[in-house]
Order: sequence, then C-alpha cells, then structure tokens
Amino acid sequence: MEEKIAELKAQAAEAIAKTANNLSDLNDIRVRFLGKKGEFTSILRGMGALAKEDRPKVGKVINEAKAQIEELIAQKNEELKARALEEKIASEHIDVTLPGRQQPLGHLHPLTLTLERIKDIFVHMGFSVEEGPEIERDYFNFEALNLPKDHPARDMQDSFYITDEILMRSQTSPVQARTMQKNDPNTPIRMIAPGRVYRRDEYDATHSPMFTQVEGLVIDKGISLADLKGTLELFLHQIFNENIGVRFRPSFFPFTEPSAEVDISCVMCHGKGCKVCKGTGWLEILGAGMVHPHVLEMSGYDPSVVSGFAFGMGVERIAMLSYGVDDLRLFYDNDLRFLSQF
Ligand code: DAH
Repeated sequence: MEEKIAELKAQAAEAIAKTANNLSDLNDIRVRFLGKKGEFTSILRGMGALAKEDRPKVGKVINEAKAQIEELIAQKNEELKARALEEKIASEHIDVTLPGRQQPLGHLHPLTLTLERIKDIFVHMGFSVEEGPEIERDYFNFEALNLPKDHPARDMQDSFYITDEILMRSQTSPVQARTMQKNDPNTPIRMIAPGRVYRRDEYDATHSPMFTQVEGLVIDKGISLADLKGTLELFLHQIFNENIGVRFRPSFFPFTEPSAEVDISCVMCHGKGCKVCKGTGWLEILGAGMVHPHVLEMSGYDPSVVSGFAFGMGVERIAMLSYGVDDLRLFYDNDLRFLSQF
C-alpha cells in the first residue's frame, strides 16, 4: 500500500513538472489525482482491506502525500500565472513614443462659408437675419408679391406644389411679406433672409432644382434708389473686391418698381471678355428694385409714408465666382476631394 502511494506521488509530481503547460492542464492533473473519482480516492476506498491497526498510519501517509501534491500544484499554479502574465506583457507592449491618433476634424461646407461671409457683411450694416419656411403658402410665395394666380411671371419659377395652395418656396422673397406682416408698419425694416429654394429645373453645371438664396429688404421713410445702389455696391465690393465694377441694368420683377439686374465686372477676365462672361465682360449677380407700392399696401404699409428696396441673390453663384468653381453640382456631390479644399 505505501509503495503504491509513493509511486502515485511520484507520478503526480512528474506530471505537474513536465506536462502541465498551462492552467487547464494543471487542473486536469488535479482532477486525475485528487478529484472525487481520482487515484487517491480509490486508494482510500481500498483501506477497508487493511488491518484495523494499520489504517491510521496509512491514512496519514495518504494525507501527507495529498498535501504535498496540493503544494506542488499551488506552486505550479503561481508559476503558470506569472508566465502567462509575462507573455501577455511581452506581446502587448505599448510604444509610448508613437504619435497619437488624429481625430478626423470636419469643417464648414463652401456654401456655408459663403453664406457666413454674406451674413457678416449685412449684419455689420445693421441688417437682422430672418427665416421663413421652405414649405410655403402660395399666398406668400406669389400673391403677396404681386404675382396673382394667372400672372405669366409665375412660369419662370414653375415649382413643386404640394396642394394648390402650398408649395416648396421658389424664392426667398416670401420672407419679405412675412417680415412686413409680423412687423409694426411704423418701425423700419432692415433684414436679410437666407435659405433654400426649389424650382422645377434641370440639374446641370449651372442649375439645380434646389439652391440657396439670400433675400434683402429695407423699409423706412425716405428710402431711395441711391440707398439701394450704395448698399449693394458696398456689399459687392466687400464680398468680391474693392476694384470690381458694378452695373445696374433695367429689368422686371413683379414685386419691385423700378427693377434692376445687377452685374459685376467678370472676376475671371476682369472685363476683357471670356468664356465665363460669354465675351461680355460682365456677370449677372443679383436682382433688385424699389418695393412696389402695391406690395407695401398688401402687407399693411402706406406707400405715401414709407418706401423700400429689396434684392435677391444666389449663394451658389457667388460661391462659384469667389472660389472659381465651374460646376454647381460639386457643391452637392459630397466628394471629399472637392470639399477638403476649403
Ligand atoms: N426672387 C427673385 C428670383 O428668385 C430675385 C429677386 C429679384 C429678389 C428682385 C428681390 C428683388 O427681392 O427685388 O428670381
């Protein structure tokens, strides 16, 4: 019996020393020798065959052997854990000298940048910034601007109707009527209204069914065409440059009288004539005029007391000219090769 115990102990010691390469192997060894169905348990069961007086002695030897094996297992356990940790440290080392990972930082879209510049110039001239809805009533988009239902000028802005009376606004001009109507007719107005507009248009290098406009409206006692000219010249000199030529041509808009189309000298050829200005040396940049007396009246203002001027411009066009972009679609394509240049 005692020889058997010594032999088992030696086997266990050898298994622990030589075959336990990891914690799970070591556990298998523990189960094999010390488990409920392990080798030592079966020896203990065999004790019944011993003479009664031998049993305590043999029991003691068995318990000592088990304790020694436990001890070996515990030592090996520590050793394996330490080794696992070392391996982990060796394989996962951190190089603190590596440069940190850069967070990708976005930036403003070129149209937003242009809009910010436009707003900045007008805010410095004392204009407020108004907003109106993109889904608009026919009344504000057309009727209150002197475009009754059958007016032929509606055709130029053939738009997206939602019902007969509601449409995607085709211009920011409805914000003129909205601002006049929410304002007390005795207090002057000096506002711009930026925003998106929608028209049933082609999608090509110079057109899009959705684009951005900035509207302007000034109403006060004694506002004249000279105020309109001075304000727009100052704006155009600031947004392009001091030396740019500005020209006013007679035109027609139903909500202004007189109306003007405003041109700047070509930013590409400086007035000599090129492809961009189609040889004319001038670029059409915005529409403007003196607010039509009927438009003032419809929104509750007395044209014998106050007068005003209004203007409207396309933000895409200004962005294209100031950055030298030759295709409007680039603003909407979300191509990083383009957008990251701003
Ligand atoms: N709403 C016009 C358009 O979209 C632009 C415009 C022209 C606005 C003259 C004005 C203006 O306020 O006075 O074509």
